[in-house]
Amino acid sequence: MASGKIFFSALVLFVISVKLPEVDAGIKFNEAFMDRQRGMHILTSMKEYENKQGFEATLGFVSESGNDTYGEDINPLQVTVRIEKKTRLRVYISDYSNSRWEVPHSLLPRPKLSSKLKHVSSPQLAVTYTRKPFGFAVTRISNGEVLFNSTPPTTGNKNLLFNSLVFKDQYLELSTQLPSTAALFGLGESTRPDGLKLNKNRTFTLWATDTGSIRTDVDLYGSYPFYLDGREGGLFHGVLLLNSNGMEVVYQENYLTYKVLGGVLDFYFFLGPSPLDVVDQFTQLVGRPAPQPYWSFGFHQCRWGYRNVSMTKAVVENFRKAKIPLDTMWNDIDYMDKYKDFTNDKERFPLEEWRAFVDELHANGQQYVIIIDPGISIAYQNYGTYIRGLEANIYLKKQNGENYLGQVWPGPVFFPDFFHPNATQWWINETQSFYNQIPFDGMWIDMNELANFCTGISCTWNGTIIDDYTSCYLQCPNVLNHTKYDIPTYKINHEGTYEGLGYRTAAMTVKHYDGTIEYNVHNLYGLSEAIATNKAMTIVREKRPFVLSRSGFIGSGAHTAHWTGDNGASFNDLAYSIVTVLNFGIFGIPMIGADICGFNDETTEDICNRWIQVGAFHPFSRAHNNIANKPKELYLWESVTISAQKALGLRYRLLPFFYTLNYEANKKGYPIVRPLFFAFPTDPNTLNVNYQFLIGNSILVSPVVTANTTSIEAYFPKGTWYNMFDWSKIQSVGENFTLSAPWDSINVHIHEGVILPLQESALTSIEVRKTPFTLVVVFPSGALSGKANGYVFLDNGDEIIIYLKVNKSSLIIFEASLKNGEGVLKSKLKFKEYALEEGWILDGVILLGINTTHTSFYFNKNSINPERKILGEEGLHISGLNYPLGEAFELKWNST
Ligand SMILES: *[C@@H]1O[C@H](CO)[C@@H](O)[C@H](O)[C@H]1NC(C)=O
Ligand SMILES: *[C@@H]1O[C@H](CO)[C@@H](O)[C@H](O)[C@H]1NC(C)=O
Ligand SMILES: *[C@@H]1O[C@H](CO)[C@@H](O)[C@H](O)[C@H]1NC(C)=O
Ligand SMILES: *[C@@H]1O[C@H](CO)[C@@H](O)[C@H](O)[C@H]1NC(C)=O
Ligand SMILES: *[C@@H]1O[C@H](CO)[C@@H](O)[C@H](O)[C@H]1NC(C)=O
Ligand SMILES: *[C@@H]1O[C@H](CO)[C@@H](O)[C@H](O)[C@H]1NC(C)=O
Ligand SMILES: *[C@@H]1O[C@H](CO)[C@@H](O)[C@H](O)[C@H]1NC(C)=O
Ligand SMILES: *[C@@H]1O[C@H](CO)[C@@H](O)[C@H](O)[C@H]1NC(C)=O
Ligand SMILES: *[C@@H]1O[C@H](CO)[C@@H](O)[C@H](O)[C@H]1NC(C)=O
Repeated sequence: MASGKIFFSALVLFVISVKLPEVDAGIKFNEAFMDRQRGMHILTSMKEYENKQGFEATLGFVSESGNDTYGEDINPLQVTVRIEKKTRLRVYISDYSNSRWEVPHSLLPRPKLSSKLKHVSSPQLAVTYTRKPFGFAVTRISNGEVLFNSTPPTTGNKNLLFNSLVFKDQYLELSTQLPSTAALFGLGESTRPDGLKLNKNRTFTLWATDTGSIRTDVDLYGSYPFYLDGREGGLFHGVLLLNSNGMEVVYQENYLTYKVLGGVLDFYFFLGPSPLDVVDQFTQLVGRPAPQPYWSFGFHQCRWGYRNVSMTKAVVENFRKAKIPLDTMWNDIDYMDKYKDFTNDKERFPLEEWRAFVDELHANGQQYVIIIDPGISIAYQNYGTYIRGLEANIYLKKQNGENYLGQVWPGPVFFPDFFHPNATQWWINETQSFYNQIPFDGMWIDMNELANFCTGISCTWNGTIIDDYTSCYLQCPNVLNHTKYDIPTYKINHEGTYEGLGYRTAAMTVKHYDGTIEYNVHNLYGLSEAIATNKAMTIVREKRPFVLSRSGFIGSGAHTAHWTGDNGASFNDLAYSIVTVLNFGIFGIPMIGADICGFNDETTEDICNRWIQVGAFHPFSRAHNNIANKPKELYLWESVTISAQKALGLRYRLLPFFYTLNYEANKKGYPIVRPLFFAFPTDPNTLNVNYQFLIGNSILVSPVVTANTTSIEAYFPKGTWYNMFDWSKIQSVGENFTLSAPWDSINVHIHEGVILPLQESALTSIEVRKTPFTLVVVFPSGALSGKANGYVFLDNGDEIIIYLKVNKSSLIIFEASLKNGEGVLKSKLKFKEYALEEGWILDGVILLGINTTHTSFYFNKNSINPERKILGEEGLHISGLNYPLGEAFELKWNST
């Protein structure tokens, strides 16, 4: 035990190669501070690891003045601190005597605490701690900056002082000091009128809920307890609290507080220092984003309300007539027989007609995706999926062992428990038999928060099905069951109401396999279903799976794409969706988009027009809307048709670039679209840009996000930027520009220093794949010297894993340099065989930032006289090269 001496311990330096100072020597303790800290946890014993790579400690509780409002304090506690990598630290705090709930390794594989530590040489972070009260701090060694510090400050406004660690069964509290200049991002999922950077004096509630993203600042479909923290000078780090329980994160002027309803405190710190490094380190732990099939980067069309095959078919036809690209057609729950999963309505979606339609899509190089919900109807004794689920015993259970009854679209349902050892095989079986009838290409898993139209645990069904889908009609009180799990003592700000947790979802005492209760597992339902669905789709198609999930958790990106959910159709919805899309890149789910033109509410021509211009450049580009509103297909307005042709036309030309970013996302975790500060972390102006974004590091999209607007103010980080539609240039020192934005145009600019692969536009991605390549090589304006580089990754787009392998894929690296007006562009190949076999051709090169007069060209040392076209002021497009992309080449030019 710590001595009773009245000392406040000094910060004890750990890890860095300084000898451990005496523990209790130090700063005299502050009376006011200590007074607030009665009932605190103090460090009582410690065991250091070899090589100073961490320690294990025991915390005792000073019991005299505890506060039992939220339950009794757990005593003693176990703390484990480990440097797991040069740039990754884990701090784990739990009950010393009893094991507690934690995110299962089966869902999120990661090093176990019991595993042997690998030696990490020269770690870039250090840990210090205080004994009394117990607190720890994480420091970036390179500059000594404290990144996280859970010890309350001893001075300052007393009202601003936070508690030291609190650890009870159903209430865990831990805070960190933060400098007021820190720039925080992340902590989802919610719709954010504040913009990208987190505002102070805000509480972020993390509890998966079936609420439309049209609602702002409330907990939505998933839980992502991860934030990115940028400090002065442009160094970033990330903080993950790996915990699946409901929680609030409260962000105040000088600190941030986690208030968590259970589980353990399992923190991971990722040192960066760039935002891309942080996401790389974070996804290395939680799972690299799943590679997405090539076709999924094409445009998608959906609507709840395509009530039969011919309506669905007509939409595909209309896209073709309007010459708007369309890769993938979707159906919502309309296709189902009485909303039963894996069934079709015999009248509206007769199998033969439906199958012929899907075959026709495939014949035209298009794809087809269907929705599936977790609730399995119990209303029909001949419903095979339900019966086989009963036999495999995979449904969620009540405490007494009976199947738990809820109500969703089909009426009375049981919910599969994807923790059950039989559940995945059952899900695969059902997917397989349905796939055998309708060969769909992707599965869209909705309502998996888990949504339930009834509340409570004591519902029964009287055998009647009513045609009222959204209110509860089962026989039950339809109120929260008064258990400590449904209504915990500490009430998080769930949906702005502080109601209990079990509202319109499974009751919190519902049991998963092995007795795990919904209270702990709730936020993981979407992840567990996504894992099973990804597996099912992989098995049945034997190709790279496409899964779109509404609910998710940390690690979901390894299995699924995501969309921003049920938004509205206002310009605010459009603007906020950009913020959500950027946040999901940070959460490791880079395949993300919003319902273009808005899901709920009526849209307008203006909104839909501007929305397709933005949505065309989001990784997942899908229009979708609600049966309750008028149709919103792009071709319904002439103006929107023209905008869509233009914006999607550029997107389709960019498909090899999007696909290369997909490869990069899978290898490094990098978001496909990124906030500006990802590419310009040392430019503080970028931290405040909310509605512009980058594709990769080099293409800046500056959309219109307000009504009746034809000119916008947009920020351009330093350098030369060229407009990708008219090749006009912007030369920025890091400043705002006023850009014209005529109704049919979106501003898309490419940055100097880049080589970008383009193909030709077409109405499907498969057609694009057959077209020749053009390389865009961008130098700074007016410079006599400069460098540019880029690369493209090519494979068949559908292999289950995405990898660089001879005969399977090619990686082509482009490098260009300019010296005294003489330039050279070269390619290098890793595995040329695949590109050669596919017969891809390099047709043209667009040189930007060069003197376009009297330029002579040499291709592989031979003088050539290609077709030329002047673009803008400093652009030259040469074409007709007709050279295999799979062979290395060298292009030289000079101005004579
Ligand atoms: C105990 O904690 C609760 C919640 O923070 C607070 O409202 C209450 O005032 C505290 N009681 C005492 C005696 O400090
Ligand atoms: C913080 O938010 C609360 C509640 O919305 C409000 O009453 C208070 O004035 C805000 N404080 C600051 C400093 O913005
Ligand atoms: C799995 O399903 C089989 C029947 O197919 C059943 O006998 C078995 O009990 C189920 N396993 C569990 C753990 O419920
Ligand atoms: C899945 O299908 C296989 C083959 O038909 C069958 O043997 C197995 O019992 C099924 N499993 C479940 C859980 O439905
Ligand atoms: C069954 O429940 C429904 C909905 O509450 C009700 O309208 C209906 O009258 C009930 N039927 C019987 C037979 O009790
Ligand atoms: C709460 O749950 C218990 C046990 O399942 C049940 O007996 C009781 O009726 C429930 N209360 C409500 C309001 O649903
Ligand atoms: C946009 O212009 C239309 C037509 O002039 C007008 O009806 C509408 O009120 C304007 N909207 C806004 C937000 O200014
Ligand atoms: C750019 O304009 C926005 C408002 O349109 C403003 O908030 C921002 O401070 C400006 N940035 C710079 C660097 O001037
Ligand atoms: C381009 O090169 C020509 C010929 O060398 C020269 O006369 C002209 O000034 C150059 N233009 C620019 C913009 O540097």
